[in-house]
Amino acid sequence: MRLDRNTILITGGASGIGLALARRFVGAGSTVVACGRRQEQLEQAQRECPGLRAIQCDVSVEAERAALVERVTREFPGLNVLINNAGVQNRPPPLLETQDWSRHRSEIAINLEAPMHLSMLLIPHLLQQESPAILNVTSGLAFVPIAFMPTYCATKAALHSFTLSLRYQLKDTPVRVIEVVPPAVNTDLGGKGLHDAGVPLDEYADHAMARIEKGELEFGYQFSEKGRLSSRKELDEVFTAMNERFAPRR
Ligand SMILES: NC(=O)c1ccc[n+]([C@@H]2O[C@H](COP(=O)([O-])OP(=O)(O)OC[C@H]3O[C@@H](n4cnc5c(N)ncnc54)[C@H](OP(=O)(O)O)[C@@H]3O)[C@@H](O)[C@H]2O)c1
Repeated sequence: MRLDRNTILITGGASGIGLALARRFVGAGSTVVACGRRQEQLEQAQRECPGLRAIQCDVSVEAERAALVERVTREFPGLNVLINNAGVQNRPPPLLETQDWSRHRSEIAINLEAPMHLSMLLIPHLLQQESPAILNVTSGLAFVPIAFMPTYCATKAALHSFTLSLRYQLKDTPVRVIEVVPPAVNTDLGGKGLHDAGVPLDEYADHAMARIEKGELEFGYQFSEKGRLSSRKELDEVFTAMNERFAPRR
């Protein structure tokens, strides 16, 4: 995929991986529109990335998704790329304990419902564009879950599955469907400090841009590269080892 002359909508583009990719696309000569819920974070991102366009939007709300698509296609009629990057990661109480379902429901709405619906809303528009693409950001945890974040991992596994179906259904169209599968990356995902041990953000973003430019349809990095290419037997071994190592101490 070319990195310049795109007009890109990136959800969650005001922080972390989204902002790191946005900066690189802007630097390469693309127009990038970032959306997120926090207006002050959008403004901060615009200071860090001059030229970045910003629209406040909560992608978990169906009506806000429709309004976002209406506005972005009106204001940026050349929009040819959707990057479904926005995500949250909750660490709920163990499933043996009483749950606050609203937090699980909202995680599903943000991580799964939103990318599915935004893709569907934008397909008719993308079909009219040159070099159209949809990029879905999943996770290495789509391939092997960590049990104390059951809903997060389920949303990412489901988004991986949806991405395969979307790519298949669009195979005879010009729309390229790309899955970005990050490993743990040092961002504020889930709260400050929880991903400090992850891959440095710039290292990951540089790698991701190179793989996007190469035209790869699915790519990971380190843990997630290994995970997405592993056999079921290997994944079962990783599942056991990872869950024993990272089980929360209570
Ligand atoms: N960091 C990792 O280790 C890692 C690993 C694998 C996959 N990923 C995936 O990478 C993506 C980006 O995460 P990140 O690590 O860069 O974390 P991040 O910095 O917390 O970024 C998440 C972004 O999503 C936005 N967002 C969350 N809920 C939203 C909503 N309802 N509507 C609109 N925007 C919303 C947030 O902005 P607001 O809060 O302002 O809305 C934020 O800018 C996520 O899909 C995540 O699951 C991350």
